[in-house]
Amino acid sequence: MRSRNLSQVVLAEDWQNGGFGLYLHWPFCEAKCPYCDFNSHVTRAIDQSRWRAAYLREIERYAAELPGRVVNSVFFGGGTPSLMEPETVAEVLQAVYRAWPMANDLEVTLEANPGSVEAGRFRAYADAGVSRVSLGVQALNDQDLRRLGRIHSVAEAIQAYDIAKENFNRVSFDLIYARQDQDLESWREELNRALEMAVDHLSLYQLTIEGGTAFGDRYAAGKLRGLPEDDLAADMYHITQEICDAAGMSAYEVSNHARSGSESRHNLIYWRYGDYIGIGPGAHGRITCAGQRHATETWLQPDRWLREAERGEAEAQRTALSGPAQAGEYLLMGLRVSEGIDTQRFTALNGTPLDHRALEHLREIGMTEMEGTRLRATRRGRAVLNAVITELLP
Ligand SMILES: C[S@@+](CC[C@H](N)C(=O)[O-])C[C@H]1O[C@@H](n2cnc3c(N)ncnc32)[C@H](O)[C@@H]1O
Ligand code: SF4
Repeated sequence: MRSRNLSQVVLAEDWQNGGFGLYLHWPFCEAKCPYCDFNSHVTRAIDQSRWRAAYLREIERYAAELPGRVVNSVFFGGGTPSLMEPETVAEVLQAVYRAWPMANDLEVTLEANPGSVEAGRFRAYADAGVSRVSLGVQALNDQDLRRLGRIHSVAEAIQAYDIAKENFNRVSFDLIYARQDQDLESWREELNRALEMAVDHLSLYQLTIEGGTAFGDRYAAGKLRGLPEDDLAADMYHITQEICDAAGMSAYEVSNHARSGSESRHNLIYWRYGDYIGIGPGAHGRITCAGQRHATETWLQPDRWLREAERGEAEAQRTALSGPAQAGEYLLMGLRVSEGIDTQRFTALNGTPLDHRALEHLREIGMTEMEGTRLRATRRGRAVLNAVITELLP
């Protein structure tokens, strides 16, 4: 009986190892990029006051359910949240401040597209309480920006980036590599240029061809030419690591690079498997209430989400997660980050430890390493993370 109580306490408190955050999804964009499978839509008329009220209502609903939680991070993601009126961002943040106490080092991030309209709002976002911007630059080459379907030029991206730096201490930007007709040498040059621009954080994503996107359709029809073969893409990944290491911006996660101490607090909540509320169309959450962790999911379609939120609740699904299910998610998220996972925490969630033979095998082939109770995927292991995880969780 005693041990059962202990395990219940462990499960009820586990989220505290990762902290608590709020993700808010803005599902609209000015144009749909052909590679993107995020929940983003192009709509002519958006009634911001309706959206604002709906977000506020959802925040109040969660505040009643999870009172007293200290908020470590708020993240406005999308879509293109820099299309939100600053007033909307300000009111959402005011509602969050009313709902919960804030951590001293609260991080408030907003994803922005590098258009001039968006950059013109940066000052107002900073006044509203945003402390960090993540800018979708994607490429430092105009021809490639066009091929990625982007509606901004490199010059506009750099201008937006400069304005972001004037307004925020913490500015990150995203690049996509392994693009059509990109070779190793041009990526090396582009990355070095990016590192000269970078403040303290950079996200470098390998282009993924997602089903259901315009690129996915073109690829299936054999019409998306010039994509790098697997070997070249792997070489690009490896030189990315080398160049970033040399510049003091090592990867702390598969695609994320930062100077030490400048990691995205918000993403660390996911990777350290904390609790987070997901508000907005299609947003996911993990919340522990009454001692039980749940996965939450909201209505995906923006108009449906809006209607349901206005009626009082936009959560479409809530699923209680068993201890082993949580352990699996912790492993999946935790091995993405260079700090890895605490195997004792895994065992406490799972009820049983990781398979000793699988661990030994992965260590022998250089995919993972142990230090004390921590299990980490090596750089090689992180490059083939799905295979590593399949071996650990057959
Ligand atoms: C949700 S998007 C939001 C950023 C913002 N809307 C923009 O496009 O500038 C986050 C990032 O994911 C990356 N991304 C999206 N789809 C991708 C894909 N298919 N392959 C690689 N990276 C992708 C892009 O770098 C993008 O900036
Ligand atoms: S990449 Fe960004 S701007 Fe493009 S469709 Fe996706 S969310 Fe919208």
